Amino acid sequence: MKRTLGTCYYPEHWPEEMWEADARRMVDAGLTWVRIGEFAWSRLEPKPGNLRFDWLDRAISVLGEAGLKVVLGTPTATPPRWMITKYPDMLAVDMNGQPRKFGSRRHYCFSHEGYAEECDRMVHLLAERYGQNAHVAAWQADNEYGCHDTTLSYSNAARDAFRIWLKNRYGTIEALNAAWGNVFWSMDYAAFDEIDLPNLTVTEPNPAHSLAFRRFTSDQVARFNKRQVDIIRAHSSAPVSHNFMGRITDFDHFKVGEDLDIATWDSYPMGFLEDRVGATSDQQRAYARQGDPDFQAFHHDLYRAVGKGRWWVMEQQPGPVNWAPFNPIPLPGMVRLWTWEAFAHGAEVVSYFRWRQAPFAQEQMHAGLLRPDNADAPALEEVRQVRDELEAAHDVSIPKADVALIFDYDADFSWTVQPHGQGLSYFEIVFNTYRALRKLGLNIDILPATTRDFSGRQLVFAPGLLHLPESLKRAFVDTSATIVLGPRTGARGKDFEISVPLPPGILELDVTVSRVESLRPDMSLPLEGGGAVLGYFEELEGAAECLLRLSDQRPVALQSENLIYLGALLDDVGLDRFVSRLALEAGLEIHTLPDGVRIRETETTRFWFNYSAERVQTPIGPLEPAGVFQQALADTF
Ligand code: GAL
Repeated sequence: MKRTLGTCYYPEHWPEEMWEADARRMVDAGLTWVRIGEFAWSRLEPKPGNLRFDWLDRAISVLGEAGLKVVLGTPTATPPRWMITKYPDMLAVDMNGQPRKFGSRRHYCFSHEGYAEECDRMVHLLAERYGQNAHVAAWQADNEYGCHDTTLSYSNAARDAFRIWLKNRYGTIEALNAAWGNVFWSMDYAAFDEIDLPNLTVTEPNPAHSLAFRRFTSDQVARFNKRQVDIIRAHSSAPVSHNFMGRITDFDHFKVGEDLDIATWDSYPMGFLEDRVGATSDQQRAYARQGDPDFQAFHHDLYRAVGKGRWWVMEQQPGPVNWAPFNPIPLPGMVRLWTWEAFAHGAEVVSYFRWRQAPFAQEQMHAGLLRPDNADAPALEEVRQVRDELEAAHDVSIPKADVALIFDYDADFSWTVQPHGQGLSYFEIVFNTYRALRKLGLNIDILPATTRDFSGRQLVFAPGLLHLPESLKRAFVDTSATIVLGPRTGARGKDFEISVPLPPGILELDVTVSRVESLRPDMSLPLEGGGAVLGYFEELEGAAECLLRLSDQRPVALQSENLIYLGALLDDVGLDRFVSRLALEAGLEIHTLPDGVRIRETETTRFWFNYSAERVQTPIGPLEPAGVFQQALADTF
């Protein structure tokens, strides 16, 4: 498949006389795609029922006639002001019971039926009008579900919908009381209509209640998305996408992905480093102009799975952003590196946010490919370079990885409800495992917890997967791959009850987690041979073979046949040691890479990426900061 480039454009931000020249410049720079429309509701319908599609007709035709393919966004992330007058109760409500206000974006509650019907109407109008338009080659539903903490809403609309969801799930109030253990603290309910949302309780709410609310909320997002997708599909055969985010875990992206043709995500490596990676201040300084070396790759692999193989970067950072605590300029070459890295993980398209920097409003400090004065910004030259390199490149095709890592949103909900130790995060546990594997130069596939077929895998990790259904246990036992579980894998049943028999609860794995403790950050338990346990430790019983122990000889990891249980969180030294040993035992080829260098293999090519700010020596020559090598695999084998 030919990989292509694109950009995000807002025709409504610029005088119409500029559109044609913009379109020509996009094509000259090698761009194929242009995404438009996703925030334009107030200009499409300035007053209720007063529809103004004429400008959008012209924008699509100017862009299309210049040779660009249009991704048309539905504008539902930005309800216009009149909508709030019409439905004052459509605003999402925060945990403290405060409604969010108009004046930015995403000010809606996923459960508000009045707003959902307005969205149906608008999406219908767009799909009918542009569904057969030859220039509209893809769609985007809404924009970044979950951005700005807008997934969980404690509104009356959410409460009412939650009660119905609970009734559908549990059938009778007695069943719900039993499943949640409501006998505790006299929390029994007599009817579904008595159940409120789990905020503003005196002390913590029942974790089963909180988990149910998160699952419900996640279903509301999937439902909201599906309504739009169904309407678009009834009028158009162009693929439908949504642009997901980095490290947003408060709805099940795999479920939303089931209804999409293409998953896309918005990659802001330097913004993420400052506010989402969880990096130490040393790492933040070392990678301040490059971004974390593993964070983008993790999400590329995640969204490849969410998109069932089809995925794009819909928004790629082209220079400083406006929203992180600090917003430095990237090293020269980074925009090209980020782009090639996405392609190496299988992205069909990389599209830059945004075409021209806007001199007004919230994002005036956000770089574009053009400056606000319309001159080229530095990233544009890097984009032209990628355009030329793409002409000469091999086709990128993605092999199945020997190593797989399970990522489960439901497990993230559960860890969030009950971290058991301050700062413990499921995302970080999975991401740390990913990083340790990637430092060894391994390709990794991320899989949903619904996977049952592990054929072709050598090594599969399922850390922290709190709820482990019987059918997944069976699949783990039945595969020949080495499976690495723990900590906390299988520790809870589906309504958050402690699993009995105690976890991991797999007959073929002679391990029982008998007691658990979370540790203060200044307490660590040294491992025999180097490294330490940090944050979480589980006491393990059982006759399985001991792979890793504490200096005081207590077991940390045990193995029976192909199943391994790791009962702790490890520091970097410990995790690197453990993971490289497992990779070697699984017969995988591992690499010793210089600091900040990562590799990724496609069917034909080994890509080398230098995320460090130093020139580094690699086996195939020196690699400059932000450098990329494309090494033909035929040369190495
Ligand atoms: C994304 C969003 C864009 C823009 C961008 C700025 O989160 O989808 O609309 O706000 O961030 O970095």
